[in-house]
Amino acid sequence: MTSEALAHAESLIAGIPDFPQPGVLFRDISPLLADAQALRTVVDAVIEPFAGQFDVVAGIEARGFMLAGAVAIAAGVGMAPIRKAGKLPRPAASVSYALEYGTAEIEMSDDLEAGTRVLLVDDILATGGTLRAGQHLLDELGLQLAGTAVLMELVELQGRAVCGPVHSVFRV
Ligand code: PRP
Repeated sequence: MTSEALAHAESLIAGIPDFPQPGVLFRDISPLLADAQALRTVVDAVIEPFAGQFDVVAGIEARGFMLAGAVAIAAGVGMAPIRKAGKLPRPAASVSYALEYGTAEIEMSDDLEAGTRVLLVDDILATGGTLRAGQHLLDELGLQLAGTAVLMELVELQGRAVCGPVHSVFRV
């Protein structure tokens, strides 16, 4: 992918002020997802540092699903959903965490063999609580974290201090 293609993809992420509550600048990746070339560009950028190093992509509900599914197809591997509490019929592990706005709990099923190498993917890194919880889930299930990747990192929130090394395609 070229730097021009990446810059174009980043330009398609819209900043929506005061959503879902006053003071929050919501990063809307929908316009990027709707652009075939931009979607391909960011999917390739997510995969690049981890090529050949993961067996499955885990995506975090809900916006992480959209990216993780595309990344899994492009990398030729499967996809595992990490869902908000109460959505999975057979949750095997559950972790609570604090969000930039509010609190939440995520769960995962026990569908992957222990030791499976998992690339953990989400759309945005803000405070890092969500990705940290996702990493804990993988750990509880005996899965191996192959890497953590996001489309966009909100640098000033210092999320990587909470969730450790992250590959972020865009940093703002
Ligand atoms: C958003 C975003 C990340 C998380 C990042 O998800 O999609 O998953 O917040 O925040 P953090 O780094 O402070 O934990 P949200 O819970 O709003 O859910 P959604 O994907 O269903 O919109």
